[in-house]
Amino acid sequence: MTLESAPESSLPTDVTALPETTVTAGSEWWRSAVIYQIYPRSFADSDGDGIGDLTGITSRLPALKTLGIDAIWLSPFFTSPQKDAGYDVADYCDVDPLFGTLDDFDRLEQEAHRLGLRVIVDLVPNHTSSAHQWFIDALADGPGSETRARYIFRDGLGANGELPPNNWQSVFGGAAWTRTTNPDGTPGQWFLHLFDSSQPDLDWTNPWIREQFRDILRFWLRRGVDGFRVDVAHGMVKVEGLPDFNPPAYDPNSIGNSMSQPVDVPYWAQPGVHEIYRDWHKVLEEFEGDRVLCAEAWVEPLTMLANWVRPDEMQQAFNFSYLETPWSGSRLRAIIDESIEAFSGVGAPSTWVLSNHDVIRHATRLALNPPPPQGEGIGPRSEIAIDEELGLRRARAASLLMLALPGSAYVYQGEELGLPEVIEMPDSARQDPTYFRHHGEKYGRDGARVPIPWEAGAPSYGFGPTAASWLPQPSDWDRYARDVQAGTPGSTLELYTLALRERATHGLGLGTHVWLQGYGEDVVAFTNGTVTVIANTGTVPVELPVGDIIVSSEPLSEAALPADATVWLTTRA
Ligand code: BGC
Repeated sequence: MTLESAPESSLPTDVTALPETTVTAGSEWWRSAVIYQIYPRSFADSDGDGIGDLTGITSRLPALKTLGIDAIWLSPFFTSPQKDAGYDVADYCDVDPLFGTLDDFDRLEQEAHRLGLRVIVDLVPNHTSSAHQWFIDALADGPGSETRARYIFRDGLGANGELPPNNWQSVFGGAAWTRTTNPDGTPGQWFLHLFDSSQPDLDWTNPWIREQFRDILRFWLRRGVDGFRVDVAHGMVKVEGLPDFNPPAYDPNSIGNSMSQPVDVPYWAQPGVHEIYRDWHKVLEEFEGDRVLCAEAWVEPLTMLANWVRPDEMQQAFNFSYLETPWSGSRLRAIIDESIEAFSGVGAPSTWVLSNHDVIRHATRLALNPPPPQGEGIGPRSEIAIDEELGLRRARAASLLMLALPGSAYVYQGEELGLPEVIEMPDSARQDPTYFRHHGEKYGRDGARVPIPWEAGAPSYGFGPTAASWLPQPSDWDRYARDVQAGTPGSTLELYTLALRERATHGLGLGTHVWLQGYGEDVVAFTNGTVTVIANTGTVPVELPVGDIIVSSEPLSEAALPADATVWLTTRA
């Protein structure tokens, strides 16, 4: 075998060196695409107010082109009071002034397309903001009105309606119902909010709502977006009659109260949602090009999630079962098999994802055994010892494994820099509604959302022109800055860049994985076309076959793959 590690990178660092490509009609690009999640408030800030914006994103697109991704997904940048960082939308067809204007969006999209990057926006259909005009009208018009029928208002139980209509709990903590006050000051009806009380759930049995959302889709499709990530795509339809939810084994603090549905929850994964997606599928077909819907649906098992990506529904669904799989060879092999089988059973690609804005970054999570449940977060009082070096090592190995799998992969901003979860964040800086609804007992998701570092030594590490940052950045992030990592052999940024380039060269996204026999329990070993992929989740080095190294997550000094490392190689017969 060749013992040199990955070839010294000759990767372009200057986008002018890149050939200009434009997005073409391309057939089913999403089957193999690497899609980069931009969390707008934390990506790049052009005006120095400490909150990222669309112009900031546009200015940094060349760096993403250099990285080698195929598409960007933008978390919400729509008009919003920002009670849940924009997942509380007050106008689906406008840009919040915090982030810019519709013209700024058009410029961003145009520049992305010029660089050959597709653009996916976030659609939040389960709920609006309580500042949405629809909700303002519903409150003003009172019980029985047409406008109230757009949301889920109910009279309370008890002699004076003083009890919530059922026992449902909010994902962010506390009751899922809030009581309104009538114009004369007396207590009124209750409204449902599966998330924060500033996020009232829409009533998707109402045809008017359905019509509005068709038009919202068309609004963005006409502007040229390539698709939508659909927020809470498993929650829009509730069981008729809104029955209590009280299975005996239900622990409200476990995953069941977050976004998954291991038991039959009357507001998750109801079959009625599929009719909506079939309808949207047709709306997308009204437009030229290859547009895509991707479900954020925390649904298990994967055979059930596969229903979201049947041929006449969505194109993709996030594979959270993969995200939640620990760094264990046998568990990874099992979930890879299960994923490919479940999705290919309906003719869809599997997706792969390790991090996003709702979970503990995988450079930290993979060092935790077990990690806290989704949404709970970690902070100074968590009393968890974290081995940062181990976490990063595993994260690099896990990412290299993920990027070798056939299907589409999602990368969350900053993971290509190896960013860890920010744990030492003062309580006073926290913003996630989860933190407040749990009275500080759960930290929530802020630690994954800290503005990312671009330039070492610069104010806010080059996130913006000033030192302002809506969540405080740690003082030791120079080492993660993009400019420090660019061109530095072995850096996490170079690892991702090389892996993405080789993934494209070898067509791994459209390939087929075939398990290699003869490896131990802790090893994930397969071929994808001419590439052999070996990941070692154990502690004992694994002997490597004879071959040429394409890329490895750790330097290889002998014919063996050390612990917590992944390698891609082309084997010689
Ligand atoms: C988003 C979260 C958001 C929630 C409510 C999700 O799953 O990813 O960030 O808080 O939906 O909209």
